[in-house]
Amino acid sequence: MPVSTQPYKGVRDFYPEDKRVQNYIFDVWRKTCESFGYVEYDASVLEPAELYESKTSEEIVNERGDRRVTLRPEMTPTLARMVAARKRDLAFPVRWYSVPNMFRYERPQRGRLREHWQLNADILGSDSLDAEVELISLAVSILDAFGLQRELYEVRVNDRRLLQEVFEKTLTNPEDLSRAMRLLDRSEKDKAADEELRSLLKTPEDISFDMNDSLKTLISKLETRGISNAVFSATLVRGFDYYSGIVFEIFDKHPDNNRAIFGGGRYDNLLELFGEDRVPAVGFGMGDVSLKDVLETYGLLPDFPSTTHLYVVCVSQDVRSDAERVADGLRKQGLNIAVDFTDRKVGDQIKKADKDKIPYVLIVGPDEIASGVFTLKDLQSGEEKKVALADLPSTIRS
Ligand code: HAM
Repeated sequence: MPVSTQPYKGVRDFYPEDKRVQNYIFDVWRKTCESFGYVEYDASVLEPAELYESKTSEEIVNERGDRRVTLRPEMTPTLARMVAARKRDLAFPVRWYSVPNMFRYERPQRGRLREHWQLNADILGSDSLDAEVELISLAVSILDAFGLQRELYEVRVNDRRLLQEVFEKTLTNPEDLSRAMRLLDRSEKDKAADEELRSLLKTPEDISFDMNDSLKTLISKLETRGISNAVFSATLVRGFDYYSGIVFEIFDKHPDNNRAIFGGGRYDNLLELFGEDRVPAVGFGMGDVSLKDVLETYGLLPDFPSTTHLYVVCVSQDVRSDAERVADGLRKQGLNIAVDFTDRKVGDQIKKADKDKIPYVLIVGPDEIASGVFTLKDLQSGEEKKVALADLPSTIRS
């Protein structure tokens, strides 16, 4: 049996045309984060498994000779670890971002894969609601930069403290709190979860959540910053136990996607995991998979030109070394150039450039080398013109 050419289930290959799209997404992420004063950090994709097993894993922590490592499923514990390690040297609040890949053992489906890249932007060291406001503004600015109109999505906000308060009063058994949270998270889409949740309450029909002061202030501060699509969502819980206050998600309203593009929230107690004092923190993660789906749905992905500007066609092998010299000179002036070394027919060399969507072809033969004037062919219009070597960069750029 020959070996399969398919990638592993739930992970993607990035052919050049796919990588261009991904690089474009990363560029917009990076530029927008940096425009808000966030600086980039990174870490290895490998982490000790105990990082995700939290405080309940003392047996594992104490195990010797059996150090388990895992592929990171998210970046927040890594970030917390890094900040905890340098806590004394950092000037708080820190504004950090990263674009890591991460691995989750999911059933692959639209918008959900086993490997994805995720922009993470976080502020550590601020208790102020202004941190949430800033991060949500950053998230919205990123979507603005991609050209996504604000009425196409909503910013859902909730507060874990509000849920906790209501459940403390309404649950028959207070120990069911985290179970109730998980059920609430699913209750809108899943009738069985809704019924199960109600069965945990003293009076099943009476469960109502009203915005607390933090949520009201958050929504009004966002409005002041021109963000008017923030809505209170009582069933927004978010999956991680470390969230301790405001949580938020940006939700694409299109029926084909209808899922979160971003998710985040406040996690004030996570650094205590490392024996450090409390460092309040807020952040969000935004995945490349769901974002690309959204951009495709709305036709917002630009057409990417080739990164190669010019393809040098050699009329015969005798001019090869001259052609290389010409190409090296033009590269120094910032042009990206591939030189054909195949000795195929001129027409076939041009076809290759066309197939690769390279916009220009430069024909190099003995006459051109002698005169210093070359034939430049624009592959889009088919137009050919004679251009002196010194004028090539400006002609190609125009
Ligand atoms: P999360 O909600 O698990 O949060 O992930 C954030 C975003 O990553 C999601 O909204 C989605 O776009 C994308 N995502 C998650 N899982 C997958 C998957 N299997 N395939 C494709 N995309 C996915 C976190 O991970 C938090 N650590 C974010 C955070 C940062 N909270 C505070 N700071």
